[in-house]
Amino acid sequence: MPSCGATYGIDEVRVACEVCGSLLDVVYDWDHARPPQSFDFFEKKWARRNEPLSLSGVWRFYELMPFAPRDSVVTIGEGQTLLQPSAGAAKYVGLKAENLFLQYEGLNPSGSFKDNGMAAAFTHAHTIGAKRAACASTGNTSASLAMYCAVTDLMKAVIFIGSGKISYGKLSQALDYGALTMQIAGDFDDAMARVKEVSSQLGIYLVNSVNPFRLEGQKSIMFRVLESLRWQVPDWIVVPGGNLGNSSAFGKAFAELKEIGLIDRVPRLAVINASGAATLYELYEQRKLRWNNGQPDLSIRDAYYKELDESEKRASTIASAIEINRPVNLEKCLRALEVCDGVVREVSDQEILDAKSQVGTGGLGCEPASAASVAGAKRLVSEGVIDADQRVVCVLTGHQLKDPTATMAYHTTDQEQFNKVLGSRGVKRAAFANRAVTVPNELEEIVKAIQLYS
Ligand code: F0G
Repeated sequence: MPSCGATYGIDEVRVACEVCGSLLDVVYDWDHARPPQSFDFFEKKWARRNEPLSLSGVWRFYELMPFAPRDSVVTIGEGQTLLQPSAGAAKYVGLKAENLFLQYEGLNPSGSFKDNGMAAAFTHAHTIGAKRAACASTGNTSASLAMYCAVTDLMKAVIFIGSGKISYGKLSQALDYGALTMQIAGDFDDAMARVKEVSSQLGIYLVNSVNPFRLEGQKSIMFRVLESLRWQVPDWIVVPGGNLGNSSAFGKAFAELKEIGLIDRVPRLAVINASGAATLYELYEQRKLRWNNGQPDLSIRDAYYKELDESEKRASTIASAIEINRPVNLEKCLRALEVCDGVVREVSDQEILDAKSQVGTGGLGCEPASAASVAGAKRLVSEGVIDADQRVVCVLTGHQLKDPTATMAYHTTDQEQFNKVLGSRGVKRAAFANRAVTVPNELEEIVKAIQLYS
């Protein structure tokens, strides 16, 4: 990854290149690693689900991320997730019923896609003998790290959160699992800057997606998508963009699969920002920042960040998981956009919540940040960028139970609650609200109401 070409050993603990300062990338010598030449190899593991490494939806693909010795791999059963066709969401988005697939990463043990990356970063931390691991988080990363620490008892978790910037569902997980929780005055961007300083000062292993091993684990989301489609490459992958770890990992996954010869074409990639935190959209679509053969013109980024500072603009969206203005994986994401002929869009909180309710109608459901992918797909179909008969996979990154406050405010009849939680963010209506029916505690009235409404 570093444009300077410096390399470091797999047993070193670093997140950035000492020479040029850019993030590091895990590079394999495929001639030496000799990955399988056919997907059958992975399918054969389905019959061996009694083995933890075959059961894991991450480590089932060990041969495509062979950075650690097999006997030090850590798993807590992550990656048992589902790719589901969704006729309802397809209709909403404007695609043929059979052409929209939702990849439910909320089904992971801690409730989000983070467990894919955590299994890998945690494995690396374990191989180098780390005893403490830290992250900054808006919720999901911290819940995931705290869970891996608690289940394996291998490390102590230290988590950094911005005050008032974490959902209770997630904070309650970290507290229950015994993580040391540092609440700092500031938002995610502040917490991220601090955790980097603290972990380098105290030698604590950092598991945010600046950690290249996180991205190795997150590649497996795409392996599972392909697996579910019986190894047919879809036309589009649509993913929300926050710190841009997923989009970067997906691009790397497809580039490697192509290099190895397991696929002959890559899908297109759409990364969806919330409009209140749309750095990637601004830089890629408006200011035309490009990967440029590994030499992106970062003065474009720096000028934008200076403007953000001068105008004291902070990220702001109901989709708390992507409320990030300084995405740490920006450069790697530019590479992914290049590999996958990508596009970036921004969607409003209104679009996000409407899309979220449509996903929920189909069952399983997702948190607001995840629904950005479906809202983004709808937009791209309406623009004619995605064709109605193309096959589209939207990644639903987190579980519906993460953010009940937003969901309840959307469905409420209480105007005050709606205004407080959503109106303040520019959300004007809840077109798909499913309002609770208030009835007196009388049998006759209850029966009448049920007959009226069902
Ligand atoms: N979706 C969910 C549910 C998330 O939790 C996050 C990030 C993202 C999307 C953004 O993903 O960084 O790969 O672009 N959550 C972080 C956290 C910030 O602390 O849990 P990305």
